[in-house]
Amino acid sequence: MSTFRFIDLFAGVGGFHIAMSRLGGECVFASEIDSNAAATYKNNFGIDPLCDIRQVDEKTIPAHDVLCAGFPCQAFSKAGKQEGFDDTRGTLFFEIKRILRYHKPKYIILENVRNLASHDGGRTWRVISESLKELGYIITDKPLIVSPHQVGVPQLRERVFILGVHASKTAVKQLHFNLPPTHRNKANGNLILNGCADLRYAISDNENFVLSAWDEFIKGVGRLNLGFPIWANEFAKTYDLHHLPSWKSTFIQKNRQLYMQNRSFIDKWLKKYDNLSDFVPTHTKFEWQAGEHIDSVWQGIIQFRPSGIRVKRPTEFPALVAMVHIPVIGWEKRRLTPREVANLQSFPDDYKINGNIQQAYKQFGNAVNVKVVEFLARQLFNQA
Ligand SMILES: C[S@@+](CC[C@H](N)C(=O)[O-])C[C@H]1O[C@@H](n2cnc3c(N)ncnc32)[C@H](O)[C@@H]1O
Repeated sequence: MSTFRFIDLFAGVGGFHIAMSRLGGECVFASEIDSNAAATYKNNFGIDPLCDIRQVDEKTIPAHDVLCAGFPCQAFSKAGKQEGFDDTRGTLFFEIKRILRYHKPKYIILENVRNLASHDGGRTWRVISESLKELGYIITDKPLIVSPHQVGVPQLRERVFILGVHASKTAVKQLHFNLPPTHRNKANGNLILNGCADLRYAISDNENFVLSAWDEFIKGVGRLNLGFPIWANEFAKTYDLHHLPSWKSTFIQKNRQLYMQNRSFIDKWLKKYDNLSDFVPTHTKFEWQAGEHIDSVWQGIIQFRPSGIRVKRPTEFPALVAMVHIPVIGWEKRRLTPREVANLQSFPDDYKINGNIQQAYKQFGNAVNVKVVEFLARQLFNQA
């Protein structure tokens, strides 16, 4: 497709906008209800998207060739069909549907969380795909599930993509997408790092201390390819586990076994760190998810999560979510900066990031990865 017009619904900070512009698109309408995200969007693209799409009359939206939407995932009413009213009414997908019904753009590109594929026992996907087919769209039988790591970006972030073409505007009868292999360990974490000497991002002295202790631990007992989290507070305990849920008692039993097998090292380790008395409770829990790819905590990507400290291999930044737990780059002993988080979402270098750090993290955590959209949209436009 040469030049085309697109609309950007649930626009956030414009992941779709950037991808569509790169492919020759011109944005003719955008909608975003969050005033902070809308301000970032306006600052970058000169379009103020601030509005609640539920309040927008579809007839006032300009004609367009592509409808993009990364809409929130909601369950559809079970009463729906039986009672003879629109199954999707009351959900945000309904807003997409009424715009599609009126405008019938040639293409649709929708994005949602991975869970949409199985949400509500598969019913959510069924209602969405049936609705789109009823409106005349050709879509794939199954939702496409794609993560940025498949297109060379070091982030594991599986998302559902629904791409479609209106049957009346194409000669094709079926859509087919070539998805890159899903195997891991391809993209280099350093690719998205810019270097940073700003002390606001450095880990704290206590975090440094705690991570050094765990680094010593994994060196002492061997890399922890265990398949269960280490709960240091359970090591030397013998209390009865019968009252606990079975998953929990299994984890505790495994921790007790680990302790018994490495008792002399672990006792010295606990003594050296004063029984972890300077550790906050969540820091006494540790999960090694880096397999045999690295030998040290400091070579990995670290997350301080409510369930404990997690270490992943350096090729795999965890999915950014509206982020509270910003990943730590082990080898730089600091958190990712907003600019690096933008890199993880494949936003360009000249993108103007929201000046409030927490807002910036949240906005990129909500965004769609630009490269993934570009990759899929190109295939859509080329075949139909
Ligand atoms: C998953 S995010 C989409 C992010 C976007 N794709 C991007 O790249 O930044 C969904 C967005 O929908 C917005 N939203 C939710 N309800 C809305 C509504 N009724 N009208 C307009 N926007 C809405 C949220 O504020 C949120 O920013």
